[in-house]
Amino acid sequence: MAAKRRFRTVKGMHDLVGKAPVFAFVEEKAREVFSLYGYDEVRTPVVEETELFVRGVGEGSEVVGKQMYTFDDKKGRSLTLRPEGTAPVARAYLQHDMASWPQPVKVFYMGPYFRYERPQAGRYRQFHQIGAELIGDPGPYSDVELLVMLLRFLEQLGFEDLEVGLNSVGDVECRKRYSQRLREYLAPYRDELGADSRRRLETNPLRILDTKVPKERELLENAPRLFDDLGGRAHDHFREVREQLVQADVAHRIEDKLVRGLDYYTRTVFEITSTALGAQNAILGGGRYDGLIAELGGPSVPGIGFAIGQDRLVDLVLKIPGAFKRLNAEAHRRRPVCVIAIGASYRRHGMELAQELRAAGIPAVCEFDSLRPLKARLKQAARHDCRWVVLFGEDEEKSGEVVLRDFSDRTQETIPRDGFAAAVAAKIRPDEQP
Ligand code: HAM
Repeated sequence: MAAKRRFRTVKGMHDLVGKAPVFAFVEEKAREVFSLYGYDEVRTPVVEETELFVRGVGEGSEVVGKQMYTFDDKKGRSLTLRPEGTAPVARAYLQHDMASWPQPVKVFYMGPYFRYERPQAGRYRQFHQIGAELIGDPGPYSDVELLVMLLRFLEQLGFEDLEVGLNSVGDVECRKRYSQRLREYLAPYRDELGADSRRRLETNPLRILDTKVPKERELLENAPRLFDDLGGRAHDHFREVREQLVQADVAHRIEDKLVRGLDYYTRTVFEITSTALGAQNAILGGGRYDGLIAELGGPSVPGIGFAIGQDRLVDLVLKIPGAFKRLNAEAHRRRPVCVIAIGASYRRHGMELAQELRAAGIPAVCEFDSLRPLKARLKQAARHDCRWVVLFGEDEEKSGEVVLRDFSDRTQETIPRDGFAAAVAAKIRPDEQP
């Protein structure tokens, strides 16, 4: 008979095995820090109407044009697995009439996102984001406060010397003007551009700015700068953001070719990158989207936000010296106590003892395999990374005690059965607690 086929994760999608506690840890940290700045958590569905992203993120963007997981439901409605979180939050803003809430509205979110990309280091088809959106204030102080919050969060995870790459993509008018200038500048070099950039020359010349092709980058070195085409108001906004970032001690670098891949951006855009991650190295991106809510049929309400690639963030956190140990401790991975009942008829007692330990806040595992010799069972406890073992059998039942063994120095003692969990807690707390 042919062997049954085993299943594996779908291409570009990953189990979080071993990393899940670190994922949970960074999520907890995000909740802690973002709530200090007045942000509330929201969760939107994983599936939205396709049209939301087509209109919100923009048909010309790579994400919408090439990378969406789109399907028809049984009634023939076109739905899409969310590729990003800003358009869904903007939809929720309108659907729940958040304009009537105290302003500005500040929300954060976390969860899985989906893009049909070519999988490579740090780039997945299901990935995770932690994001935040501030809707209802045109800034520039909101821009600065958002960045300060973001850096505060990253610092708390152990990152040092982070630098923000910053640019302004201006308002719609500035971008139109600039796109034309860039087209004119690149026209004589048309034949030297790759197919992608040639297409973008017609559809969205701005996107050529973040080409990775060396030859094209060279051509762009003397290109007009978007920066010089900013209209008065966008220009003042950018100047003030930069001034206030300096005041707030936020190191940043102006990157005049930073344009971002989603069409809703206006004015401030930013990214934080890390060289430690290799090719796809932006750990987060964000910016202002002052036209998005109106594009989705709402009033003209400005917004700004960011999204961190959580998978990339976790990989980086694990590279920070000492971080893994600290995170393990903080993510509650305390070493469990192993309860071994000696003799089949004492297994129920073993379960009760473990329950009492857990009720006292001590992680506990039971070793139930009473048919095996004690030595093998103790080995099993060691494999569970237990330092302490509680032994209980006929002798202990008679004497009303339990045996507590310490693997670290191979000593053991007997303690009264009644109230034993409190006695164990008192013993292990000083060195087992983070
Ligand atoms: P984004 O730049 O498309 O922005 O994505 C944000 C971050 O998500 C990226 O910097 C990256 O770390 C991570 N990311 C994106 N695609 C993948 C992937 N395939 N695999 C792993 N990580 C990935 C947005 O999504 C905007 N909604 C951000 C925003 C919020 N702008 C304003 N508010």
